[in-house]
Amino acid sequence: MPQNLDTLHSAYAISARMNSSLSPEMKPAPATGWLQNAANEECRARVWQLGLLTGLKCEEDGIFAPANFERALVLDRLIQLRRPQRILEIGTGRGLGCMSMAASARSHGLAVEITTLDLSPTDLPIRWPIEIDGARQVLNASRREIWSLHIDPALTAVLREVTGETTRTLPALAREQRQFDLIFIDAGHDLYSVVHDLAYSTKLLAPGGAILMDDFAPLEEFGLGTCVVAPHARRFFGKVEIFPTEGLIYGGAVQPEAPRGMVLLTDPIAQEISVSRARLFAWRAAEFVLRLCHAAPFFPLRATRP
Ligand SMILES: C[S@@+](CC[C@H](N)C(=O)[O-])C[C@H]1O[C@@H](n2cnc3c(N)ncnc32)[C@H](O)[C@@H]1O
Repeated sequence: MPQNLDTLHSAYAISARMNSSLSPEMKPAPATGWLQNAANEECRARVWQLGLLTGLKCEEDGIFAPANFERALVLDRLIQLRRPQRILEIGTGRGLGCMSMAASARSHGLAVEITTLDLSPTDLPIRWPIEIDGARQVLNASRREIWSLHIDPALTAVLREVTGETTRTLPALAREQRQFDLIFIDAGHDLYSVVHDLAYSTKLLAPGGAILMDDFAPLEEFGLGTCVVAPHARRFFGKVEIFPTEGLIYGGAVQPEAPRGMVLLTDPIAQEISVSRARLFAWRAAEFVLRLCHAAPFFPLRATRP
């Protein structure tokens, strides 16, 4: 069974035609890398429709744009290639990730159960840019409201929502000895959260499973957590692949010059995994130091005017 990104690359290199339904302000940025030829029209359209409902952003100037819909293309494809049954999403957000996986599974005739975790309750109203029947607006609505009104119930039927901080929910899943074939890490982006969530995800991963991490962004502070853990991940996974994603297909990248992508971890080592809570605690201190390293006054370089 094809399981790695090389297969993903070549499988994506099928069609280079862009989605003709993109409106002018959503036209894709110049694409580089493997996603540029990504995904057949059916897959793109599936992600696009879900993205309009669950993944749009609206900037201060009132312009609507896709917020990294490409992550959903990657998830869609991973479902098709790896055929996972037990899926864990860490960070539900408004639901583009979990809905894309559910839609991909349905399209490929796979039975899945998607456990999706978030600290914010499903009934909590949040700012929600959305396009409904061609009309764009910013609603104040909860996941429950939007999903029940606009998402196919067959997709939500495979979801199991769990509310709480990952520091509570992930250890609870580990105590229940749950295992997952595919885990998507996309919750807190601070260093501690990323280290914590990867540590527990590795423990929760079924033999032969895969972990996908979002927000590998070396030029931005929020992306540092993923950059720091990637070298550690190499000791626990046979294959660590980093690839650009944001804005490559649907446009909308915040800073196209500052690449933002994902990390795919496959071939987990076949050993008993345990999480050291004492060492995790030490990462709280590391987080503080890392923030300091990012503070401009802390850097030893000064530029003086001539
Ligand atoms: C980027 S969004 C997730 C997007 C979603 N995965 C998708 O693909 O559409 C991040 C989510 O993680 C949640 N989150 C952040 N920190 C968290 C934490 N420590 N525990 C649980 N959820 C957290 C936030 O509430 C937010 O909804």
